[in-house]
Amino acid sequence: MKVLIVGSGGREHAIALSVSRSKKVTKIYCAPGNAGIGTIAELVPIKAMEFGALADFAEKEQIDLTIVGMDDPLVGGIVDVFNARNLRVFGPTKAAAILEGSKAFSKDLMKKYNIPTASYETFDDADAAVNYLKSAKMPIVLKADGLALGKGVLICNTLDEAIAGVKEIMLDKKFGAAGARLVVEEFMTGREVSVLSFCDGTTIKTMTSSQDHKRAEDGDKGLNTGGMGTFSPSPFYTDEIDKICQEKIYKPTVDAMKKEGRTFVGIIFFGLMLTSDGPKVLEYNARFGDPETQVVLPRMKNDIIEVMEACIDGNLDKMDLDFEDNAAVCVVLASKGYPVSYEKGFEIKGLSNFEGKSDMFCFHAGTALKDGKFVTNGGRVLGVTATASTLKEARAKAYEATKLVDFENKYMRNDIGQAFME
Ligand code: AMP
Ligand code: GLY
Repeated sequence: MKVLIVGSGGREHAIALSVSRSKKVTKIYCAPGNAGIGTIAELVPIKAMEFGALADFAEKEQIDLTIVGMDDPLVGGIVDVFNARNLRVFGPTKAAAILEGSKAFSKDLMKKYNIPTASYETFDDADAAVNYLKSAKMPIVLKADGLALGKGVLICNTLDEAIAGVKEIMLDKKFGAAGARLVVEEFMTGREVSVLSFCDGTTIKTMTSSQDHKRAEDGDKGLNTGGMGTFSPSPFYTDEIDKICQEKIYKPTVDAMKKEGRTFVGIIFFGLMLTSDGPKVLEYNARFGDPETQVVLPRMKNDIIEVMEACIDGNLDKMDLDFEDNAAVCVVLASKGYPVSYEKGFEIKGLSNFEGKSDMFCFHAGTALKDGKFVTNGGRVLGVTATASTLKEARAKAYEATKLVDFENKYMRNDIGQAFME
């Protein structure tokens, strides 16, 4: 089989590695990819939002399966374009990807179908939002409705902060069109867990759990980022909690989407908060998480292509997902200054230390090749992942492995997985 992967981050590198292990696959392409993905796939210089050009490529090269990793093309309708041209593709249609594309939609869906989540109000008008906030309980959470690279969420401790937040999102348009509509949400406390799942429209099968670290600095301080590190499994996600989630959240979400005429085929990523009131949904994503995928897929025993094909063909009920009984930790190596401003173009040294290893991976996120050398090319540069029999061992190994690579302005959090050390 020939497979095309659409995307260019650490997530797509992890997907590409899994795909490369499939017995069914003979050739992998990635558009546009990055320098690391280029070591296992042929890079195609077409951007993820160029749906027509991507479909032309898939047709010409007789690609058997296209896998879309990123949110923007999914929410923009890439799957519909491929389907209309009879090209096999893994991911939700535009109508289904709205689960991630609009927070107002997903909140309304959860309310309508009684899926546990924080209480909320939606506003199209900044004055109305400010009026509402004047009598609201602090802290409170403001969310831009649309896609904002995981950064469109503000947690406000005071009314002044909340009013400034409304201005930033709705009037100054800090997150662009994503902020035309605002969701104001009750602040929840508890542990966060990410659960990724495969879905064929009717059946949903969840993967092993993980936890992200979204803030830029140690101790969960600083700005929200795309994610600074992950571990899997989450020891806080017990079998008992899983049972509640399967009954009250996962299956009801898939059924709700089907009832709404938005049958969901692809990956549903449940961002959960384990509150004293039970697990609640923080957000849905319509794709693999980044950097959750970098700790989940290396632990998956299944042939990823077989699972994706079962989703597309509606046979997921006949398949069991199987994960190694081990643990993984991923530490993101970023460029100093991320997520605000940072320099690019520094040479990355030491990557060959990871060659041929089966328990240590260096996934590339923002990297490029320049004059035959790997250089930094983004905010999140690399994701260093290690697997071991326990979380503690995996954590020690991952931090040891971060010393094997170096570049100017290298920045990382030093407390990834601190939670399970306590
Ligand atoms: P989201 O993109 O919706 O997952 O939000 C990004 C991050 O903001 C989450 O991972 C949480 O840490 C935080 N967050 C979002 N919604 C809430 C909420 N209702 N209460 C507390 N924290 C939240
Ligand atoms: N790591 C969070 C996300 O992928 O949205």
